[in-house]
Amino acid sequence: MSYENVLTETIGKVAVIRLNRPKALNALNDALMIDLGNALLAFDADENIGCIIVTGSEKAFAAGADITVMARYNYMDVLKGEFITRNWETIRRVRKPVIAAVAGYALGGGCELAMMCDFIIAADNAKFGQPEIKLGIVPGAGGTQRLPRAVSKAKAMDLCLTGRMMDAQEAERAGLVSRVVPADKLMDEALAAAIVITEMSQPVAAMVKDSVNRAYETTLAEGIKYERALFYSCFATEDQTEGMAAFLEKRPPSFKNQ
Ligand code: HXC
Repeated sequence: MSYENVLTETIGKVAVIRLNRPKALNALNDALMIDLGNALLAFDADENIGCIIVTGSEKAFAAGADITVMARYNYMDVLKGEFITRNWETIRRVRKPVIAAVAGYALGGGCELAMMCDFIIAADNAKFGQPEIKLGIVPGAGGTQRLPRAVSKAKAMDLCLTGRMMDAQEAERAGLVSRVVPADKLMDEALAAAIVITEMSQPVAAMVKDSVNRAYETTLAEGIKYERALFYSCFATEDQTEGMAAFLEKRPPSFKNQ
């Protein structure tokens, strides 16, 4: 399947989705978000794929929602048109792990999109920010909600109120990104991480993702209960039997995703 605004490829069991509006620094418009959503759902449904990487260009992951489009909107346009809810949240329906490989700018909706992925690997030239306030708007796709959960209230307030950018090192110190790598190694590193994940039991990887995400949606007691139920359910899988047998037999496991 090919799309106009994203490029897709598969490398073994890893799918790579590259945002592709280079002239506008991958500004996120409707057409791109629809293509991204469709590509994500197609790879999620493909049983040969175990992990998805979302990336942009060397200069920009995405410089935010498309300002040329938003500049024409009034209140009724965004309300009736269900701006954001209509096609920005498709990524949350994906059960497979999704890694954001971020180089260059990840601003506004670009930073929010990266935060919707399961974790972020950043190139050392990455810059993150929520500059919406400079446009007279608040972040609209989770910037004021996911960012404080990922970093801290202080850092999120600082970024959202001043609109300043933070570099990759600051983002790593703050806990927004899981690792920073040299820009020319970004895809190699993201791919290596993705391959490790594809070698795990895929149903168990989906459970891990689900359970970690649950930590942001519920109380600690409820989250622990949820995790416990998932933990018990692993003992109904062949992959648990295989994983533990492989350890005891001092060999790598061969998971069957069963
Ligand atoms: C539309 C954009 C864009 C955007 C860049 N471009 N960002 N077009 N929407 N968000 C376009 C520019 O207009 C320009 O087009 C081309 O991309 C290159 O950008 P330059 O500004 O010339 O590049 P540079 O000087 O290197 O500056 C890069 C930049 C700057 C710092 C990233 O472009 C910038 O500040 N962009 C806006 C960032 C932003 O405010 N993002 C938040 C958007 S609001 P031309 O045709 O002139 O070459 C948002 C709300 C989300 O995201 C709400 C949820 C949906």
